[in-house]
Amino acid sequence: MTPIQQCIIKKKINLKPIWLMRQAGRYLPEFRKIRKSNTNFIKLCLNSNLSSKITLQPIKRFDLDAAIVFSDILMVPYGLGQKVEFKKDFGPKLNNLNLEEISKIEEIHFLKKLLPIYKLIEKVNKNKLISKKDTIGFVGAPWTLLVYMINQCSPKKKLKENFFKDKNLIKKTLLILEKFLKIHIENQVKHGATIIQIFDSWAGLLEDKNLPDYIYGPTLNLVNFVKSLNIPVICFPRGIKNYKEYCKIVKPDVISIDYKINPQQIRKEIDIVVQGGLDPKILLTDKEKLKIEAKKYLEIFKDHPYIFNLGHGVLPETDPQMVDYLIKFVKSYY
Ligand code: CP3
Repeated sequence: MTPIQQCIIKKKINLKPIWLMRQAGRYLPEFRKIRKSNTNFIKLCLNSNLSSKITLQPIKRFDLDAAIVFSDILMVPYGLGQKVEFKKDFGPKLNNLNLEEISKIEEIHFLKKLLPIYKLIEKVNKNKLISKKDTIGFVGAPWTLLVYMINQCSPKKKLKENFFKDKNLIKKTLLILEKFLKIHIENQVKHGATIIQIFDSWAGLLEDKNLPDYIYGPTLNLVNFVKSLNIPVICFPRGIKNYKEYCKIVKPDVISIDYKINPQQIRKEIDIVVQGGLDPKILLTDKEKLKIEAKKYLEIFKDHPYIFNLGHGVLPETDPQMVDYLIKFVKSYY
């Protein structure tokens, strides 16, 4: 059993496994080199030779306990036929959402478009480096994908005023997403993903009264689906205020916490496995500060099954040496 599986399934507390969100990406010079000659990000994700190589780049460099599939949550809208582009210094840009068109998409067409992602997982799992580690597959939560599909770009701090205007569009899109997210999860698992993480990056944009319809209900359906495949599921509802209520209702195997939430409070209120929390900006400071902050999380969760990670992704400005330092520090803490 891998260290992460021992932590999740056996509730081992002395292992402190570690992986990092966005561990493969722009802070690595070897990634930037590939990215420079592959200007179309979607095409890069669909090139399984390159995307499997990128997935393994951080595993070659650092003593991490899991690889995360190099892909993007927006590959699902892409698979549904909504055009997605990634513009430099702007982020994702999506075409208008056409309900009639996405309603017509059939499973076999969706799978054909996303097949290279499943091939990438197979390739990664064949590599010796991964034999005692997990391969983390992922999806965006229905709510976060809905935000991108309707808003057509990152919402930054708030939703468009008329976001909820077309209730029919929202209801039907959420149902389509649920169906295809299950298909995407099932195929990642079939091809070798050993854990699924559900990213709900824009959970914090909703008012409390809307949480049941847009987050709790749709995410619980996915969590139950992953559990039916006998694979652990990690949820990352970034920015929500009430992690306790979320865990009580959605019941993931692991809750990944963001950097704004007080870890002491989480330790007191939550009894499931916890992941993450450290502010990725700490990696931009110095080793002394990094050590103090990482130690804070290790101490708070010393008697609790805990997977070390950040409270959001590694920032592109990060020095890889700081990442190396963090991993070595966590690994040698006990
Ligand atoms: O290393 C890993 O974590 C695996 C790969 C991964 C990417 N995106 C690659 C990527 C994962 C797990 C994601 C998830 C993702 N994508 C999320 C959820 C996590 C989060 O950050 O909140 C979201 C919201 C997206 C959507 C997305 N993709 C945005 C907003 C952007 C542009 C801004 C940014 O962070 O770069 C992307 C592009 C993207 N996805 C890049 C990478 C490596 C950068 C591409 C580039 O320009 O080189």
